[in-house]
Amino acid sequence: MRETLSIAVFTLAVSLLYTGVGHMVPQLENRPPPEVKAGTNIGPEALIEAGAGVFEANCAQCHKLGESGRGPDLASVGSRARERAAERSAGGKPYADVDYLVESLCKPGDYLVKGFGNIMPPQGKALSGGQILAVAAFLQNLGGTATIKGTDTQVLERFGCLQAEEGGGPGAAAVEVKPVGAPAESFAEFGCSTCHSIADPTRKLGPSLQGVGKRIGKSGIYDKLLNPGATVTAGDPPYEKGLMKKTLDGNGFYERMKPVDFQTLVDWLAKQ
Ligand code: HEC
Ligand code: HEC
Repeated sequence: MRETLSIAVFTLAVSLLYTGVGHMVPQLENRPPPEVKAGTNIGPEALIEAGAGVFEANCAQCHKLGESGRGPDLASVGSRARERAAERSAGGKPYADVDYLVESLCKPGDYLVKGFGNIMPPQGKALSGGQILAVAAFLQNLGGTATIKGTDTQVLERFGCLQAEEGGGPGAAAVEVKPVGAPAESFAEFGCSTCHSIADPTRKLGPSLQGVGKRIGKSGIYDKLLNPGATVTAGDPPYEKGLMKKTLDGNGFYERMKPVDFQTLVDWLAKQ
């Protein structure tokens, strides 16, 4: 009886925490990306300019122009997008360079660039549809010529990036809610395995989670998952603050994980 009660209280506490986290807005950017309104008559030139600002604010921490960083070098991504689009539309279905760029932004997990892990946060929540068009124009112009206009909202709709207030219908930009799988699967699916090794002590973007249960206990793991921005694990050189939170906020982790999934994942992690 006592045990049942404590489990119930624990579950309630986890649900409350969980609801709290769901409402938190990521506030990591120092400078907000410029506003752009989708559906309005803005030409490529103006979009490129706004897109440069969006890139600085939301992308430059991972992408550089001229060398590869955490993400691929985007210096000539405009011409790469044309090549990839040509390859893909060779199958018969029309697929343009703009489709490639917007899909990379809205559904980065669909096709991973070789040699990189699934850590890019989908941009549909962080950016408005207009901002996505702007940064896509900026990218199209790198090694190519931008053609995107503010009225090109169809491509946003196609990849689920047009937000409701921009005419995308209710929940247009929402991440599809499908149930999560076993802990080992979610560990890979939500990008944990890209940033954390678990079977050995290797440092990746984040610390190895081997022995994490002994180190910080189940409650420590809970705290880290429910609110990754609250604490920073010390490292030498230091780990990047906010990286884990940003990725999990963006990739649907908090929409899809139910309290019971948190429990299963924490139990599994604590055993590693
Ligand atoms: C946390 C790091 C991170 C952030 C932030 C990030 N990206 Fe990425 N991006 C990556 C990684 C890693 C890949 C390669 C894996 C993949 O394809 O998803 C990638 C892939 C891409 C690609 C495909 C590149 C190619 O060669 O085909 C594009 C385009 C892109 N990102 C644009 C952006 C833009 C624009 C932003 C900001 C709005 C952004 N990314 C933010 C990490 C990031
Ligand atoms: C984009 C990279 C990234 C992703 C994805 C990521 N993490 Fe992390 N994680 C980090 C970094 C960096 C740290 C250390 C800095 C900090 O504490 O924020 C960390 C810290 C942790 C810690 C604390 C470790 C300790 O020893 O104190 C745990 C536990 C953890 N992550 C679990 C997870 C799990 C589980 C997932 C997937 C649901 C995940 N992380 C996804 C980067 C990531």
